[in-house]
Amino acid sequence: MAETGKNTDLAAKYLLDGKLVAIPTETVYGLAANALNPDAVLSVFDAKKRPHFDPLIIHVTDTAMASEYALFNDDRLHLLAQKFWPGPLTLLLPKKDIIPDLVTSGLNRVAVRIPDHALTMQLLQTIKLPLAAPSANPFGYVSPTEPRHVEKQLGDKIAYILDGGVCKVGLESTIVGLEDEKICVYRLGGLAIEDIEKITGTVELRVNHSSNPSAPGQLKSHYAPRKPLYFGDSELLLQKFDSKKCALISFGAIPKSIDTHLIYNLSATGNLNEAAINLFRFLREADESDAEIVICQKLPETGLGRAINDRLTRASVTS
Ligand code: TXA
Ligand code: MG
Repeated sequence: MAETGKNTDLAAKYLLDGKLVAIPTETVYGLAANALNPDAVLSVFDAKKRPHFDPLIIHVTDTAMASEYALFNDDRLHLLAQKFWPGPLTLLLPKKDIIPDLVTSGLNRVAVRIPDHALTMQLLQTIKLPLAAPSANPFGYVSPTEPRHVEKQLGDKIAYILDGGVCKVGLESTIVGLEDEKICVYRLGGLAIEDIEKITGTVELRVNHSSNPSAPGQLKSHYAPRKPLYFGDSELLLQKFDSKKCALISFGAIPKSIDTHLIYNLSATGNLNEAAINLFRFLREADESDAEIVICQKLPETGLGRAINDRLTRASVTS
């Protein structure tokens, strides 16, 4: 099994040897490899059982380092980087030749971000190389927000888990790029659309292209637990599945009339940021519980609520 600790020098040594290291970020844990070493990148795909057509995000220390690997092809993207990096924003930018095609699955853009986590920043500053890192979960499953999630599913495939505690955002980054001169959002995530639009004006949402996606995080079935998950009005769903052992993932005050086998409340006070932090942990716990099915309440479509609803829609059997 993987060693776990906070030793960034040791993590750097493993990465320089072509091995895989799980890294903490503010969004979710990443499964990192030296992005300039195609063999190491290949082992990321193997460990996750991820199809090679699904490209990886590279993680860097600052915009100067980002510019070594990608071109800022629009002032609005540059402004977004200045405003939100380090943070839960990934930019799709024209790639420079130095990035192996394997990283971008042969596409001409590379996904880049600066993670907001002190330990991973220290690691990046030590190693001085871009780290290619998808979320550290088997392909299609829920992303990890704690070291133990990584250990449980991928512990035998990685050299080291850099322990940075619980992720403080809890949802993957929002992916943004330029297409037809428009600022497009390809994946809803930990940076709310409202915050992006304050900088760029109205954006175009291209998150639901389920055939031939430009980001497989757009695939309709993704982020899914193994148990059947139903998403919508939880009171109606609980009535419908009255005869089953249900785990309920709820939000806000829970009506007294609700009495079910297991209840996980994303945020009793109705705070969407708190809900984001709890979401993936609760999905895992519900999946590992003795419930037969998981029912999830739809959240308000504002702020991070939109990204949470997007994940739950993709995770649900009804989508
Ligand atoms: O918050 C995050 O973004 C986390 C942390 C670890 O940084 N990473 C993450 O990676 O969620 P992953 O691989 O699970 O999701 C990245 C998404 C995928 O849907 C992928 O298809 C898309 O980004 N993507 C990556 N490179 C791309 C590219 N060149 N063009 C289009 N989509 C790309
Ligand atoms: Mg992922």
